[in-house]
Amino acid sequence: MHGTIFTLLKRYVQTQYDHSTWVRLLDAAGLSAADFNHKSVYPDEHMYALVGQAAQMTGIPTGELHEKFGEYLVPDLMYMYQKYLDPNWRTLDMLEHTEGRMHTQVRREHTENAPPVLEVKRLGENELLINYVSARRMGGLAVGIVRGLAAYYDEADRIDVMPTTSEDGERVQIHVRRT
Ligand code: HEM
Repeated sequence: MHGTIFTLLKRYVQTQYDHSTWVRLLDAAGLSAADFNHKSVYPDEHMYALVGQAAQMTGIPTGELHEKFGEYLVPDLMYMYQKYLDPNWRTLDMLEHTEGRMHTQVRREHTENAPPVLEVKRLGENELLINYVSARRMGGLAVGIVRGLAAYYDEADRIDVMPTTSEDGERVQIHVRRT
């Protein structure tokens, strides 16, 4: 997985908890010597180990941790890929264009990058359906990112995010509606 996701996980733990929690987490995950930078790609297993240990340490289920972390990621991801954004987009437009703009660009940057495939069907002006497909089974992260985007566009109180399948499968469906 992309080093950016790891560096943001590190920052998330440091800001939500503190630096020593991050060091304890690395130790618990058997990664005490690891450091991460945004230019490299790291094994997915490191991410599973870190999130799994974080769940054990905090008692928060992994799916919920993925969601919280997904929300946290959004402002940085948007900043990093701002040149692929259209200023007229709002939450639903951004979701509709993530696959074609953002994830396509991520795949171009590095052959080892493999963001999930997001098949997005716009059902109407205020409604769409996301089909998430990834062997990584990080649907919780996807749900969190959608919530983070709604907050980013100041639409958090109007956007309903409704997973219609289990969040931990290789295929996850998420219904998003603006009220
Ligand atoms: C809006 C701008 C977005 C940017 C710049 C972005 C970028 C990225 C990047 C860099 C990765 C790491 C890929 C890798 O390590 O191979 C990633 C992974 C991921 N993205 Fe996005 N993404 C965006 C939006 C979204 C949205 C809207 C969703 C869900 C609806 C989403 C769901 C995910 C998930 C769940 C992963 C984790 C990897 C996996 O499940 O296979 N992303 N994204």
